[in-house]
Amino acid sequence: MCVVQVRNKKGVSIMETINYVNTTYHDDIKEDVLSGLTASQKFIPSKYFYDARGSVLFEKICCLPEYYPTRTELSILRDAAPSIMHYFPDGDIVELGAGANWKIRTLLDIVPKNKLSNIRYIPVDVSEAALEASTEELLRIYPGLNMLGIVADFTRHMEMIPCGREKLFVFFGSTLGNFNEDAGDLFLKSVAGSLGEGDRFLLGIDMLKPRDILERAYNDSSGITAEFNKNILNVLNRALEADFDLDHFDHRAVFNMEKERMEMYLQANVDVVAEISSLGLTVKLEEGESILTEVCRKFTKGSVDRMAFNAGLNVTKWFSDPKGWFSLVEMERWNEGG
Ligand code: AVI
Repeated sequence: MCVVQVRNKKGVSIMETINYVNTTYHDDIKEDVLSGLTASQKFIPSKYFYDARGSVLFEKICCLPEYYPTRTELSILRDAAPSIMHYFPDGDIVELGAGANWKIRTLLDIVPKNKLSNIRYIPVDVSEAALEASTEELLRIYPGLNMLGIVADFTRHMEMIPCGREKLFVFFGSTLGNFNEDAGDLFLKSVAGSLGEGDRFLLGIDMLKPRDILERAYNDSSGITAEFNKNILNVLNRALEADFDLDHFDHRAVFNMEKERMEMYLQANVDVVAEISSLGLTVKLEEGESILTEVCRKFTKGSVDRMAFNAGLNVTKWFSDPKGWFSLVEMERWNEGG
C-alpha cells in the first residue's frame, strides 16, 4: 500500500490517494492474454478495452442514439436522487469504478452546499489517471467536498475500503453485466461483506429486452462500437509487442438468448497468423473464427433478486424507467435476524 497526493496542474494537492495495486498492468495483461488466446474459445478480457483511446471511444458510445443504457440510467438517477440522498445527511459515498463523474454529480447536486463537507466521496478505480481526471473537476464544482481516492481493483480489494462512517456504495453503468456469473456472484458477496448496518448499495443494471433493441445498441450505425472493439488489438500490439492487423477482423455483436447476454467478438475475415513477441506466442485463427472480447449480461427482476439473495443482500428499492429498460437497485446486507 502507498499513500500519494494527487496534484493539479499547478502542483496543488487536491486529494489523498491510497494505492493498493501491487501487480503491474504488464504482469496482468501478459497472464490474461496468454490464457485467453490459448483457450479453445479464444478470449481477451474486456477490461483491456480501456486505454486512453478506448476510454474516449466508450464515452462516445454512451452518447450514441442506439446505446440507450447511459441516458436511461441518468434519467432514472435524476428522479431517484432525492429519495436516495434523503437518508444520507453525512457519510461516505463509495463509487466503484470512477467513470465520467456526471452520475455522481446527480447525487451530490441534491446535497445543500452547507452540508457538502459532511460527505466524503471515495472513488475506487484501478487507474490512478482515471481517478485524477474525474476528481479535479468535482472539486471545482463542489468546493469543500472531502475526497479520498483509492487505487484498487474492487473485484479483489473490497476489504480495503475504510469503515467507520455510514456508507452508500454505488456501482453504475451495468458494469456488473460484463462479469461472468461466477465473477459477478463473488463480487456481490464481497460487496455484502463490506456493508455494515445501515449501509446501502446502489447497483445499475441493464434489463433483458427484445433482441433487436439489444443488437442495435452494440452494432451502432456510425461504427464506434466496432472501432472500440478492434482497439483492444491495438492495446495488445502496444503492450505485448504483437502484430495484429485490425483490418483482418470484423466486429460482431450478437444476443445469446440462452445465456441472456450480448456477446462481442472479433471475427477473422482471413486466415490470421499473429505474433505476440513478448509472450513468444504465435496466434492462429482460421477465416471465420472469433475472439470473444466481451459479455454483457442482461437481467430480470427475478435474476437480480436471486443474485442478491445468494450474495447475502436484500433488495430494498427498485427504480426504473417507464419502459423498464434499465434499473437502479438499492440493496442492504441481508439480516438473518429478519
Ligand atoms: C461498460 N459496459 C457496461 C458496457 C456494456 O454495455 O456492456 C461496455 C460496452 N461494450 C460495448 N458497448 C458498450
